[in-house]
Amino acid sequence: MNTPISDFVDKYIESSTIRLHMPGHKGVGDMERYDITEIAGADVLYHSDGIIRESERNLEKLYSTSRSVYSTEGSTLSIKAMLTLAYMSGVRRIIAPRNVHKAFVYAVAQIGLEVEWISTTSLDICSSPLDIERLESVLSNDSDGVAVYVTTPDYLGNMLDVKAISKCCRAHRVPLLVDNAHGAYLRYLPKDMHPISLGASMCVDSAHKTLSVLTGGGYLHLAKDANAIWIDNVERAMAMYASTSPSYLILRSLDRQNAYMDSDYRRDLLEATDRVVALRENLISHGYTLVGDEPLKVSIDCSSYGYNGGEIEGVLRAEGIEVEYSDERYIVMMYSERNTLEDIRKVSSVLTSIPPKPPVEIPPMTLPTPTRAMSIRDALYSQVEKIDVKRAEGRVYSDTLISCPPAIPVLMSGEIVSREAIDLMQNLGISHINVVK
Ligand SMILES: Cc1ncc(COP(=O)(O)O)c(C=O)c1O
Repeated sequence: MNTPISDFVDKYIESSTIRLHMPGHKGVGDMERYDITEIAGADVLYHSDGIIRESERNLEKLYSTSRSVYSTEGSTLSIKAMLTLAYMSGVRRIIAPRNVHKAFVYAVAQIGLEVEWISTTSLDICSSPLDIERLESVLSNDSDGVAVYVTTPDYLGNMLDVKAISKCCRAHRVPLLVDNAHGAYLRYLPKDMHPISLGASMCVDSAHKTLSVLTGGGYLHLAKDANAIWIDNVERAMAMYASTSPSYLILRSLDRQNAYMDSDYRRDLLEATDRVVALRENLISHGYTLVGDEPLKVSIDCSSYGYNGGEIEGVLRAEGIEVEYSDERYIVMMYSERNTLEDIRKVSSVLTSIPPKPPVEIPPMTLPTPTRAMSIRDALYSQVEKIDVKRAEGRVYSDTLISCPPAIPVLMSGEIVSREAIDLMQNLGISHINVVK
């Protein structure tokens, strides 16, 4: 597969052209020389008809989509564009479990979409399983102007049954929008588990989270049978929120990833998942409890091994290993094909040398049933004051509390702060929140 963006940048560097254009570093520096702007021949992201379009066509073949576009601002940008496309095609209400990323909350406020949070089979602060029967009943009741939005895989590596959810959505002629920020690689598993392959209408991937792509690189994919409105407007929708100075470092790395996915990536990924399977088995045989089923993520419930997540993280850090996330209960480790057998052996040897202790009792955190006082939009666009959470009872919560998953926000913007919510927030170490003035 060709790499038109990378080739263009390489030729430009070779030409030693005097750079009288942005950026100000003028290509001086090892990394800076690759960092060009939308000069003649470099195409224009979101008005593409040259090398960017050619590279995106490669991506469309790789993911079997009708249209895929690049993001140089992660899934945060693609989520806004995906919801905007839904709006353009008549969607006014989104049905979603509550474990959404904050980009979703900001997007619905900006676009003016209504959200109906769907109750889940078991509400835990870190995961949002989706009960298909409940979804079926919600859609049977009213599916006019509705889209379903799910986040899968979640931060801990739990995966929803996208095939079943998409079947339900398609039966009701409702688009299924998927935040697949953590799952760009799922397409390349021996059994393709990418949301688009399983029937999603649109999905976003943070390519940078799991592929060999620079931070910020991402995709917005439209399914083969996508609505013509989405295909015609996808670049417009991205352009509405994106910077007009996209990073060619990121575009180049997205372009090069295409060639890798077309050649050795599938084999390398298989070897990586085999190594992670062996690690999982070893940890389980030493008494660790793992959660989630995403193949490249290993999330440990440290409490049943007698520790809190921070303690295990500390032991790993002292041995030169940095994990993605830790909290009172969990640590999350993210692997890719770039992690060697030696990396995995070291992790395994450090973790298995920690002696197990009696389980730590962590009381389950159940989310309070929220009462809405105003829309997400009104709450986010209001004037706010930052107050001590202890004094917040009865006030209207404004800002998304927890910056990103894994945790489901205790409250969403516009909901009333209850006594239970305060207790839970204090348990989570949150001392101050923004409430509507
Ligand atoms: C589930 C989920 N969705 C969306 C995002 C935003 O992705 P990005 O950082 O690529 O903008 C994140 C980031 O952590 C995430 O975890």
